[in-house]
Amino acid sequence: MVLKPGLEGVPVTQSSICDIDGIKGELRYRGYPIAELASKSSFLETAYLLIWGNLPSSQELRDFENAVQMHRRLSFRVRDMMKCFPATGHPMDALQSSAASLGLFYSRRAIDNPEYIYDAVVRLIAKIPTMVAAFQLIRKGQDPIQPRDDLPYSANFLYMLTEREPDPLAARVLDRCLILHAEHSLNASTFSARVTASTLTDPYAVIASAVGTLAGPLHGGANEDVIAMLETIGTPDKANNYLNNAIAQKSKIMGFGHREYKVKDPRASLLQEFAEDLFARFGKDEMYEVAKAVEQNAGPLLGPRGIYPNVDFYSGLVYRKLGIPRDLFTPIFAISRVAGWLAHWREQLSANRIFRPTQIYTGEKNRTWKALEERANN
Ligand code: CMC
Repeated sequence: MVLKPGLEGVPVTQSSICDIDGIKGELRYRGYPIAELASKSSFLETAYLLIWGNLPSSQELRDFENAVQMHRRLSFRVRDMMKCFPATGHPMDALQSSAASLGLFYSRRAIDNPEYIYDAVVRLIAKIPTMVAAFQLIRKGQDPIQPRDDLPYSANFLYMLTEREPDPLAARVLDRCLILHAEHSLNASTFSARVTASTLTDPYAVIASAVGTLAGPLHGGANEDVIAMLETIGTPDKANNYLNNAIAQKSKIMGFGHREYKVKDPRASLLQEFAEDLFARFGKDEMYEVAKAVEQNAGPLLGPRGIYPNVDFYSGLVYRKLGIPRDLFTPIFAISRVAGWLAHWREQLSANRIFRPTQIYTGEKNRTWKALEERANN
């Protein structure tokens, strides 16, 4: 048996959802290039495409949007439960707990029933943003505000978060960010979702397990660390020195590197454009110059090893300009990735076999049990 740490290069499923060419730097959802979706589609339309396999007709899209709008509110019991969470807790932990709690409220586990599947999809896409916004207000000591039916998905999320109707450019940029983050084949959280799905448990447990996996700094959590790194560097002239020191100490440069891409992540290029659109309208972020200096100086140092900016490198600068606190960057990633996780949940169920890999045992064999008083160090 050959051990493959991190399962690098090991196919564990077939999938028709998302295709990555890490050498050309190309990403497609269901065959559509990501840049085209980000400029022409909406998050809900893209979610529909990912989950059901084809772009919706106008009637299907209207029905889906209406259903999501109808289910955006949280039960008062969920809100009350969230009020008991510690205000100092990380919003990803709050999200994981509240997403898992939906299984208590909608416990009928009928995963072979198309109606149950549609309802679960709608509920999760509708309620996850409300949960993220609710925790933000609750931890500030306020009551969560209700969704506004006249606002589309992303505008409503910004409204619930900031209590102000957002500028249309801000809402559109957030919607485009959600499109970019919606799916990325078998990354760690999606694999987690598929493993959980393969036990035939309920979709709320599937999403909660994926949220927990996304939270780590080697995965979705990197976008928070990028801003911390840029602030530590402080000014563009210090970027080269910082990089050289970090590389000499074998520290990772946050927002750089990817298992699949050996060139700049196409999503990073698009997010950089979105950041520039926001800066042109609302004023620059001084950390943008630092970020560009990091990218430029990292080119000769990391480029030859195929290490370039990934999706997390510029997303934090976009979210910061939208007025979003740093520890909500990863929850926003989760709001979007729910679409991909649900697509994989459905795909897993369509040809399910429980995940049960094997291991190479390296422990002791045939030890003889000793009574407590006979053991060394007693
Ligand atoms: N900075 C410096 N060196 C790096 C970096 C980096 N960001 N990424 C990889 N390397 C080096 C690493 O030190 C190792 O060198 P060596 O062979 O000399 O030991 C080599 O490249 C291979 O690295 P690895 O960690 O084994 O690669 P991986 O495919 O297992 O990990 C990764 C991919 C994304 C976890 C890694 O690049 C990383 O830790 N990046 C920083 C964290 C980050 O930005 N994560 C976001 C990932 S993209 C969005 C998402 O998935 O959520």
